[in-house]
This record gives sequence, C-alpha cells and structure tokens, in this order.
Amino acid sequence: MKTTTRWHKIFESVEEAIQQIPLNTLYSLRIDIRKICITHTSRGFSAMEDACPHKLIPLSKGYVNEHNEVVCVWHKYCFDTATGYEMTDKNIRPVKVYPLEVREDGLFIALPTRPQKTDDFSY
Ligand code: FES
Repeated sequence: MKTTTRWHKIFESVEEAIQQIPLNTLYSLRIDIRKICITHTSRGFSAMEDACPHKLIPLSKGYVNEHNEVVCVWHKYCFDTATGYEMTDKNIRPVKVYPLEVREDGLFIALPTRPQKTDDFSY
C-alpha cells in the first residue's frame, strides 16, 4: 500500500495567518477527520496533531513556552514544534507533525491521504 500526501490551503495569505494566530499562540483546525494544532512561534508556523499522546487532550488548549515548545495544558508535557518529540524525558511517543508551506497564494498543510492499493497483490 502506498500513502500519498495532499496539500490543503489553510489561509489565503501569511498576513491572514498572523491575524488569526498571533505570535506564541495555538490554533485549532479540523481538516476532514484530522484535528490539527497550528503553532506560531518565533520559528514561524508549524502544525501537529491536536491530541496529546499522553491522554489525548487537545494540544491547542495548551500554550507555547519560552523554548518554542507546545505545553499540554493538563500534565505540562512539552512538545517540540519541529519534531513532535516530548522534551522533558517523559518517554512517550512523539506527536505527529505535518509539513507547512508558505506560498504566494497562502499557507498550506500537507496531510497524508488514505493508503492506496498499488497493485493487485497489495493488501
Ligand atoms: S494529557 Fe497531555 S500531558 Fe497528560
């Protein structure tokens, strides 16, 4: 099976994204069945799944700390916005991160599509 990626426009321009997501804030977004947490830090915009891997609390309810990490509001686990790794050694799986791209016509996110059957012998 082959997984492909599809780009989705989430804002018409960077200016609109900045207006909706001021610096050091989080933004919740739903695309199809996925809940996404968009983060705006001094590193720029980034995107991750909007569910803490600890107890599935929405990460968008948390906040950005001084290290540009997303802090879960419940038990304060900290996730790197670039890698999704938890940064305080809690031994938990990383959060899924998704590519974002700033283009002339807006801000786009790449999300995986459902796995496609590649040939008659695939399962
Ligand atoms: S639910 Fe996020 S750290 Fe526990």
